[in-house]
Amino acid sequence: MIDSAIPIVRKAVFPAAGLGTRFLPATKAQPKEMLPLVDKPIIQYGVEEVLESGLDNIIMITGRGKNSIEDHFDVSFELERILEEKGKTDLLKVVREISDMLHIAYVRQKEALGLGHAVLTVRELVGQEPFAVLLADDVIDADTPVLRQMLDVYEATGHSVIAVEQVKQEAISSYGVVQIEPWDDKRFSGPVYRIHDMVEKPKPQHAPSDLAVVGRYILTPAIFEFLETTPRGAGGEIQLTDALRGLARREPIHALRFQGRRHDTGDKLGFLQATVELALKRSDLGKAFREYLKTLPL
Ligand code: UTP
Repeated sequence: MIDSAIPIVRKAVFPAAGLGTRFLPATKAQPKEMLPLVDKPIIQYGVEEVLESGLDNIIMITGRGKNSIEDHFDVSFELERILEEKGKTDLLKVVREISDMLHIAYVRQKEALGLGHAVLTVRELVGQEPFAVLLADDVIDADTPVLRQMLDVYEATGHSVIAVEQVKQEAISSYGVVQIEPWDDKRFSGPVYRIHDMVEKPKPQHAPSDLAVVGRYILTPAIFEFLETTPRGAGGEIQLTDALRGLARREPIHALRFQGRRHDTGDKLGFLQATVELALKRSDLGKAFREYLKTLPL
């Protein structure tokens, strides 16, 4: 049920100006968001999730050396002409589809001063509206797109929503972890909580829960006020988590334990796992790939 008093989320922001150091040397001259998972760049999975969730306004935050992201989502007249001449209509459809369906604006983050700093650069473009933030390297394979699952919670409450996932104790110190209380509402795709506080990369014994923040957020525009006053933390970076802690003290923020399988493709092992799992699910490749895997002396 949509409450007409709740402002609509229209824009999805993709911060893609990070340095991608975990994936060097592949990311020395190309953005990690453009590494292919099977046959699509990582960021296209996120963009398709946005479209399937009912949004088509995208803001990309890019940095140095990220032109290939703009080129990928732009019209490629030369390529389209060649495909047309050769009668390759299937491929033509594939390259055309994505640029036809989207409105994309690009903003430069001049220095990689952290995720919080990146989000602050879109303040003018977003304006006084709620908006979504997707970190493309979290690729989430789900029956209902995770952003859609989150929008359902937002549209019923008007509150910010953060996607969380249960994480094993030994891995918890790689994540932001939420301190929560249950929020008794059975309307949604997974359990929903109210966030009281968040801790960035806690030691396992200090983690307030086993629920880690993953790269999907719906934020009210009040977040910008907190980002503006958030001091630079470790490495001179402005952390989104610090601003979210402030926001959680002022207004409710919900955590949604989403339905779906997440892959951290910004990490080499996560990237390999995603490649294998997504290839196995493909109708055109899965069977042959499975047969091949069975021949490996594992
Ligand atoms: P990460 O923590 O994954 O950092 O950023 P990174 O630089 O991309 O990669 P590693 O850890 O060095 O390998 C989380 C998200 O925030 C964006 C990144 O592009 C990624 O989507 N980000 C990070 C920015 O847009 N700007 C920044 O200054 C930092």
